[in-house]
Amino acid sequence: MQITVEGGSITGIEADTYVVPLAQGVRSLTGATAEVDLALGGVIATMLENGHIKGKSAEFTVLPAARRMKAKRVVVYGVGERSKLTTTTLRDRLGALGRSLRGIDAGRVAISLQETPTGVDADGSGQAAAEGLVLGLYRFDKHHTRDGDKPEHTLGDVTLVETSARRATQARRGAEAGVIVAEATNMMRDMANEPANLMTPTIIAARAQQMAAETGVECTVIERAEAERLKMGSFLSVSNGSIQPPKFIVLTYNGAKTRGRYVGLVGKGITFDTGGISLKPAEGMEAMKGDMSGAATVISAMSAIARLKLPVNVMAIAPCTENMPSGSATKPGDVVYAMDGQSIEVLNTDAEGRLVLADAIAYARANGCNTIVDVATLTGAIGVALGTVRMGAFTNNDRLYAEVEKAAEAAGERIWQFPMDSEYGEQIKSDVADLKNTGGRQAGSITAAKFLEAFAGDTPWVHLDIAGVMSASSDKGWMVKGMRGTPVRTLVEFVKARAK
Ligand code: BES
Ligand code: MN
Ligand code: ZN
Repeated sequence: MQITVEGGSITGIEADTYVVPLAQGVRSLTGATAEVDLALGGVIATMLENGHIKGKSAEFTVLPAARRMKAKRVVVYGVGERSKLTTTTLRDRLGALGRSLRGIDAGRVAISLQETPTGVDADGSGQAAAEGLVLGLYRFDKHHTRDGDKPEHTLGDVTLVETSARRATQARRGAEAGVIVAEATNMMRDMANEPANLMTPTIIAARAQQMAAETGVECTVIERAEAERLKMGSFLSVSNGSIQPPKFIVLTYNGAKTRGRYVGLVGKGITFDTGGISLKPAEGMEAMKGDMSGAATVISAMSAIARLKLPVNVMAIAPCTENMPSGSATKPGDVVYAMDGQSIEVLNTDAEGRLVLADAIAYARANGCNTIVDVATLTGAIGVALGTVRMGAFTNNDRLYAEVEKAAEAAGERIWQFPMDSEYGEQIKSDVADLKNTGGRQAGSITAAKFLEAFAGDTPWVHLDIAGVMSASSDKGWMVKGMRGTPVRTLVEFVKARAK
């Protein structure tokens, strides 16, 4: 599917399906909807009068086109109340609309963008619309080998129709950016949906290298021997039980005029989390193929940052390994040393995310990152606190957090800040080392964040715990059942805003 943007009259466009919006509560039709209604001899107006259509959100009505029209059918789609339209709802509507259109095998479609949020420029609505379509139409079906199990249709090319040539120029710019970030999100989904046998640390490194070659980003993969030289004892301790070689992936993008200082994006890359010797229960363990979501997020965000040529220096760091039990695995009570010299008592080998992040955050600081945002499926406790709606956020710097919050808002990815009082830190003091890697059941997400804070030191840092929002249980708006792709768009928005 290709997305293009045109300005002017929808009925001049050659397509299979015209899609015109209907807002809830309107008395008379306007713009493209009125134009198409006229060509149809007034059926839409009649249906509205009779109450057959109401414009409720996600209402989807298919009508045959009249003979002289340049399309075979017309879809009237409800957008809900005008006053409730925002970029977030527009993105969601277009996500659901795309799937409905695919379901009826709509072919090439022209979609009128006349109902857009008030106060948002054509640029913003073009971006939200393109994101909704590209994200909503995503599917992960590569492992179905039987034709009958494959989805039947694919949607043809889409033309977004703006009300004027001037608005079309703006919307085109927005749509281009929207396609780039949505494709990056889908790249993340492809990586995280892939089962762990087909998305090992080695395979992630190869994907990162391929992406880097395509976008002009630098990619360095630190192998085990090099990680040993760098004294990444915390990261390496997680890989002890695995046959898969660990890969510590570093992507560097120099978008700013001056070199040197970087925004560090750090992502947890556990390609499968069995819990290690502190083994997880069998039930539901398969979900732990998604425990590399943080790594997939920062690698994918980097692809969009580079494609958008954002004038910012960014370093993405993805410590990748499996967490497996075996004769060589780390044992509860073992003491390991992170590369910054801090010692850690590993009380629970299932609290492995913070161990790989400790070295990744230390590496970021030692290599020029003066701002760090980390993304991790870190704790089950965050799902207990926030469910599947919001990701949790933790920081040592409220100004940086404000930037991340604003970016999440713009991306339509919801976020909630947790407290970081020093008392929580007492829970992770160890009797035998500087830190222990678990703080007990209480405030589990906060004590995990306090652990990471010890490695961030005085570098402004935000930690995003995405364990609760890792996956979606059904198709909904821009979300598709499976790994969600959150917060790729937040990170891109965050870096974009830093360019200003
Ligand atoms: N990867 C898990 C957290 C997780 C849970 C991610 C559910 C996605 C969905 C993490 O490594 C983990 O096992 N955390 C432990 C920490 C505990 C041992 C302190 C947890 O949450 O139980
Ligand atoms: Mn774990
Ligand atoms: Zn984990």
